[in-house]
Amino acid sequence: MCGICACLSKQNSVQLVVDGLKKLEYRGYDSAGISYLENNEIRTIKTVGEICHLEEKVNGLFANLVIGHTRWATHGAVEEKNAHPHLSMSNKISLVHNGIIENYKALKSELSTINFRSDTDSEVFVNLIDLEEGDLLQKFIHASKKVQGSFAVALISDKGDFVVGKRESPLYVAHLSDGGVMATSDVYVLNNLATNFFTLKDDEFAVLKENEISFYNKNGEKIHKKCEKMQKFDKISAIFEKTHMKSEILETKNVLKTTLENYFNQNIFENLNLPKKIKEINLIACGTAYHSALLGAEYFKRASIPAHVYVASEFRYGNEILNKNALYIFVSQSGETADTIACAKICKEKKMKCLALTNTPNCFLNQICKKVLPTFAGREIAVASTKAYSCQVFVLFLFSLYLKGEFYQLKNLLEEFVADFKFTDINDKLVDEVLTYKKIFFVGREEDYVTALEASLKLKEITYINCFAIASGELKHGTLALIDKNSLVIAICTQEKIKDKLISNLEEIEARGGKIMLVSNFDIRDENYLTLKLPNSFPLLMPIVSIIPLQFLALKSSEKLGYNPDKPRNLAKSVTVE
Ligand code: F6R
Repeated sequence: MCGICACLSKQNSVQLVVDGLKKLEYRGYDSAGISYLENNEIRTIKTVGEICHLEEKVNGLFANLVIGHTRWATHGAVEEKNAHPHLSMSNKISLVHNGIIENYKALKSELSTINFRSDTDSEVFVNLIDLEEGDLLQKFIHASKKVQGSFAVALISDKGDFVVGKRESPLYVAHLSDGGVMATSDVYVLNNLATNFFTLKDDEFAVLKENEISFYNKNGEKIHKKCEKMQKFDKISAIFEKTHMKSEILETKNVLKTTLENYFNQNIFENLNLPKKIKEINLIACGTAYHSALLGAEYFKRASIPAHVYVASEFRYGNEILNKNALYIFVSQSGETADTIACAKICKEKKMKCLALTNTPNCFLNQICKKVLPTFAGREIAVASTKAYSCQVFVLFLFSLYLKGEFYQLKNLLEEFVADFKFTDINDKLVDEVLTYKKIFFVGREEDYVTALEASLKLKEITYINCFAIASGELKHGTLALIDKNSLVIAICTQEKIKDKLISNLEEIEARGGKIMLVSNFDIRDENYLTLKLPNSFPLLMPIVSIIPLQFLALKSSEKLGYNPDKPRNLAKSVTVE
């Protein structure tokens, strides 16, 4: 989390950095700031809130050397004093930082001569650097050996030095096509500005001059790095609605179509060169991507391949026994999620077969895994993932068909699914009714349970309503105790074989005074139910159909409650710290 953009150029680097920060706002929007060099003095401007506030404050400013930051608060409240950049006490060095310095408290207590101006771990880091011997690079390298945790850092000094380096958090540098150099947390910032870029590996550093970038290892020795070609980024959105989230939901049909076409036309599965027989699949992911992985596991099991799903933050410190015959799939929209990346590194180091399922070309996860199943959802800006989730589910389904030897046979059916894909909205009256309940539960069985999990996550993250999902068969093992007349239970029912079981569970809820809202493609009539009718589609792909109105439920509820659904509080799109 947090985004860094830093630039040295003859052009107005203030503008370039602010434009870069706008592209990085998905990584956090608690506060933003820049430091720039003017007459051998470092000047800093900070604002609380979104980049637009910073943009207003720096209007008309010109500088060649600028470092900028957009923050997602980890240490210290959302206040201007905690916004980056942070100056060392001598005012000689300014730093922007993405990551967490885990031992900052111990280091801070050793720096007894420093008057700290913020509550952040980053300010400890910049002072640690300033107190080291040598030039800016040497100071940084020495200090980096004393810190534990993660960092992507850009530094400037009052002498005009510009140095960057990283551990765990992503950092890219590039020569700009119009002259100058840039360092940033996301390659996307370099889109249309550079044709090539360099990815810094852990404990690598770079000294940036206007026409030259020199790379160093942790011993301060110069190293040679190969540049990579920028891949083309898709347009942000082909549909323009009031919010990114709405545009992105409405894009689902188009991006499913593009994904299917690309999988047929580009031989993506064949090019992976996977072993003929895959004996086991393990999927690892976080949040919404974890939910798509749950569905993926169901699909693989139907293709007779044992499959397991792990939450990345649990897997990385757990005692999982790795299996050389298994395939490990890391699912991530951004390809930047710290926990998912850590798991991929563990599996790669242990020589497991790894595959990244991502939506972001050039992302870190792709670089680790090398083998990639792309989703073609286009860039997703809203923090709550929608179209990317549907694409992940779809690609996992296609992959299960491929492994079963049925992908090409089912071409017509798959094309039909996409061509007939119907959006189901939810009417405003129903949304208003939902919002009258104090307690909201989502229930379902099997695939519908996963939809319940995802729908509940969407609703809570952008409305702050305390809701949760439970497998309907589990209700009477405890949760039923919570049901009363203030409870709304949103039940998803799209699978014929478990329909009657679910209906019995709903009766148990009604008997305790709970209100039911049934989300189903079946004609189940009960005058006491609120109903949201789904269109019919292929049973296994119903999760992609049924999530749409539930995404709309979250979106409309958020708007009705007066929130910005694109930027929910306390969250960021890319979770680059653990
Ligand atoms: C929720 C959401 C998050 C992400 C999670 C993983 O709407 O978007 O739960 O799914 O943070 O992110 P990625 O997929 O980028 O690894």
